[in-house]
Amino acid sequence: MFDSNHMSVNAKNHLVVGGCDTISLAEKHGTPLYVLDEEILRENCRNYKESLQTHFGVGNLLYAGKALCNTAVLQIIKQEGLGLDVVSGGELYTAKNAGFPMQNVYFHGNNKTKEELSLALSLDVGHFVVDNDAELMRLNLLARDMGKTASVLLRIKPGVDAHTHDYIRTGQIDSKFGYGLETGEALEAVELAIGMNHIDFCGLHCHIGSQIFETEPYCEAARLMMRFIYELENVYHITVQQLNLGGGFGIAYTKEDDPLPFEEFCKVISEALNEEAHRLGMDFPYILMEPGRSIVAPAGTTLYTVGSVKEIPGVRTYVAVDGGMADNPRYSLYGAKYDFTCAGCAGDEKTKTVTIAGKCCESGDLLGEHVALQPVMAGDILAVADTGAYNYSMASHYNRIPNAAMVLVKNGTDRVIVKREQFEDVVRNDVFLEEDA
Ligand code: LLP
Repeated sequence: MFDSNHMSVNAKNHLVVGGCDTISLAEKHGTPLYVLDEEILRENCRNYKESLQTHFGVGNLLYAGKALCNTAVLQIIKQEGLGLDVVSGGELYTAKNAGFPMQNVYFHGNNKTKEELSLALSLDVGHFVVDNDAELMRLNLLARDMGKTASVLLRIKPGVDAHTHDYIRTGQIDSKFGYGLETGEALEAVELAIGMNHIDFCGLHCHIGSQIFETEPYCEAARLMMRFIYELENVYHITVQQLNLGGGFGIAYTKEDDPLPFEEFCKVISEALNEEAHRLGMDFPYILMEPGRSIVAPAGTTLYTVGSVKEIPGVRTYVAVDGGMADNPRYSLYGAKYDFTCAGCAGDEKTKTVTIAGKCCESGDLLGEHVALQPVMAGDILAVADTGAYNYSMASHYNRIPNAAMVLVKNGTDRVIVKREQFEDVVRNDVFLEEDA
């Protein structure tokens, strides 16, 4: 959010991010531009790691790469000593490119291909989070052929319903992810895994959804997983070393959002785990958590240039920018709300209510409606807060729009970490049809 606690404005009344004047950044690098504040990213990594250690003692923090994955970001995550959750061959390849220690990588995904599994095995990825029996069998055979053993966590649907957007809820039984707990699928999967020669069953994973504000769904999931671990250990004598409780911690995009700090989530979840463990007379296993959004979203700001302001009398005012759903599809997909400001007059009062439109050939290409904004005109730079997660990572080439550049800012310096795509990049894989003779 661009409120007085989160925003700095210089003597020129320009928005400043990471010590850099955003108007100068826009002039130097062009727009649309993703700006990533290195300090915020590093601070979040450190605070989150510390919170997890304080409340769970042992355990590890993973960064969910799906939120924002490129080589430089993964280099920072590596330097901060976090582990990494990847969900595809592409994310895994990026981790390799960043020199990420593969032992600290967890490979997720509900439909990993044979090629992806082979790549992961050949890179000696630390753990596989297996989603289904077909994958388990495929992995076992591939590991056998490569003379390896795959360390596996099983993805479990605990049957907890988190209150968030339907598209990003994952803990309920009607979900494409993982094994159901109450249906008995989870127990059968553990039995299948421990019977396999090239699978080392290490633990369980659950993830209930994303942009969640309440603690109770996490506590409930943690309690249910502890009861399952108790059953595995005491009835079936199967040891569970690791429990991954997923990510999904909500952030404040606008004033309407009121999230708890990660530390508070850790405190409440650890209390629930402790209580349940105590009641069952057992210790809790090595705990993992894997937030993405809350670590990286607040570090991101997007800059756009306003191309036109269209006032439709008695209807609404459209402010059209030079980006849109191609670099941030979240409003068109989920109706996600953001905070906007005029980068060149950031300290001024927001006296207008406008709709921010993108440049794609589609009426639904909007970045926000009923948005409070300073009066702006063509040529002004518009800034959007908290765009670090699920913007660049979900960007498309719709309308053959080249992907925007990303700069990393810190103490007034800026470094390009993703180059702006050019039109040549857009046609790079096109094959020119030779005319028939
Ligand atoms: N772990 C697993 C298994 C996940 O599926 C996810 C997110 C995370 C961790 C990280 O969740 P986070 O802390 O970032 O909320 N595109 C949507 C969000 C999709 C989340 C997918 N899974 C959006 O833009 O809101």
